[in-house]
Amino acid sequence: MNIKKICCIGAGYVGGPTMSVIAKQCPDVEVTVVDLNQARIAAWNDENINNIPIYEPGLSNIVAEARGRNLFFSTDVDSAIDEADAIFISVNTPTKTYGSGKGQAADLKWIELCARQIAKVSTTDKIVIEKSTLPVRTASAIKNILTHNGNGVKFQILSNPEFLAEGTAVEDLLSPDRVLIGGDQTDEGKKAIESLVEIYARWVPRERILTTNVWSSELSKLTANAFLAQRVSSINSLSELCEHTGADIGEVARAIGTDSRIGSKFLKASVGFGGSCFQKDILNLVYIARSYGLSEVADYWEQVIIMNDHQKHRFVNKIIRSLYNTVSGKKIAFLGWAFKKDTNDTRESAAIYVADGLLFEQAEISVFDPKVSKQNIYSDLDYLATRSSEENRNLVNVEDDPYEVCKNAHAIAILTEWDEFNTYDWERIYESMLKPAHIFDGRNVLNKSKLENIGFTISGIGN
Ligand code: UDX
Ligand code: UDX
Repeated sequence: MNIKKICCIGAGYVGGPTMSVIAKQCPDVEVTVVDLNQARIAAWNDENINNIPIYEPGLSNIVAEARGRNLFFSTDVDSAIDEADAIFISVNTPTKTYGSGKGQAADLKWIELCARQIAKVSTTDKIVIEKSTLPVRTASAIKNILTHNGNGVKFQILSNPEFLAEGTAVEDLLSPDRVLIGGDQTDEGKKAIESLVEIYARWVPRERILTTNVWSSELSKLTANAFLAQRVSSINSLSELCEHTGADIGEVARAIGTDSRIGSKFLKASVGFGGSCFQKDILNLVYIARSYGLSEVADYWEQVIIMNDHQKHRFVNKIIRSLYNTVSGKKIAFLGWAFKKDTNDTRESAAIYVADGLLFEQAEISVFDPKVSKQNIYSDLDYLATRSSEENRNLVNVEDDPYEVCKNAHAIAILTEWDEFNTYDWERIYESMLKPAHIFDGRNVLNKSKLENIGFTISGIGN
């Protein structure tokens, strides 16, 4: 099949940028991104290109180029599905918060709804592509729904996992290390795989487009994220040892990272990894392993998450200990709330859990993040359901000026590695704070000796 029309269900962090880049690179292919959330679609269609709902460097230029030409954002899900040759499913798959598998298994409610809707409205043959990260063997569930509810229409299911990282999504999509496409190893399956290969081959060298069976593709996605997260937990575990021995984690990371077998990436010690994927995907892996009775495998990977939770708690405890074992009524300034720099995404951000830990000790928190809205910060805290939303609003204050946030604070905590933090007038900040003026650099981004010379007491991760 020659794919001429694409529909993508889900206009989020994955669907939005991925479809924008496909539309840019394939001007003759019509790409329609649909979403149930009307406000989100309206934002994607906003005349002012800076108001698109997702912040990613370089994305607004691409949307400006393709939108209205061959890139469309719509809430008319049914017609977009029926007109398309290929349908990407990019809806969210959060960890279940209820029932069996609670806290570990992926909630596939939205995926199932999408499959049912595709079955209901399709009148021509389709290729259905899993773009969302899913537990292994989800494709067979989707296939079951499609074949038992369709109108005699033929469906091929492919797995085409996303490897883009937020903050560098456009770059990752334009020159990916690899594109992975899994499909049935039948003649029809292979034809469907080839149709999707043809799309990516417009800009990705063929040798970087890997094709596999469906299960390998699904499992590779979970495995890639598990390995990346494991590196962060490994280096974070050693950061604690460094703090006790006088070794410096930055020096250790450099020393091991220059071994080409290990490599230098993902060795940055931090307050803990966040983001929508790492924790969820490892939990999925753990859940699958347990469901096959593989308890050693499950425990092995679960430890990556246990370590990450420990790193967040440790950061909170260090702040409390340094402030003479009480933070009650003390103002703590948070610089950064996003789970990493260059994104406005806050899902699973370490900042949320550090804030929760400090609020539990009755601290007063003041937050500044260059890209995250006040409303988003409150809804992250409300979502924890640890305290009422009124209490969250009383105890947490969000400002759009970093100097206001730091004024009269007992301590500053760096939660995100935004580049701009290094450009601040730190003497001015020091003057405005209570003394001793503490900085807890959860990302090791500030210039320690310069700040110590100003008078700050600064404590990083693993040094
Ligand atoms: C992604 C991936 O798709 C998922 O696999 C990954 O593991 C986590 O993140 P993302 O794009 O980041 O999802 O999620 P989100 O920004 O929440 O976007 C999903 C969109 O799907 C939302 O805008 C939601 O409104 C929409 N949606 C959800 C639908 O349109 N229909 C549904 O039935 C469910
Ligand atoms: C990740 C994967 O990298 C991507 O391939 C997949 O498609 C989605 O999940 P993302 O969550 O956007 O991408 O961000 P990533 O850059 O992987 O960072 C995840 C978290 O780990 C962040 O909180 C980051 O700050 C943290 N991290 C990363 C570290 O603490 N240290 C590091 O050395 C690297």
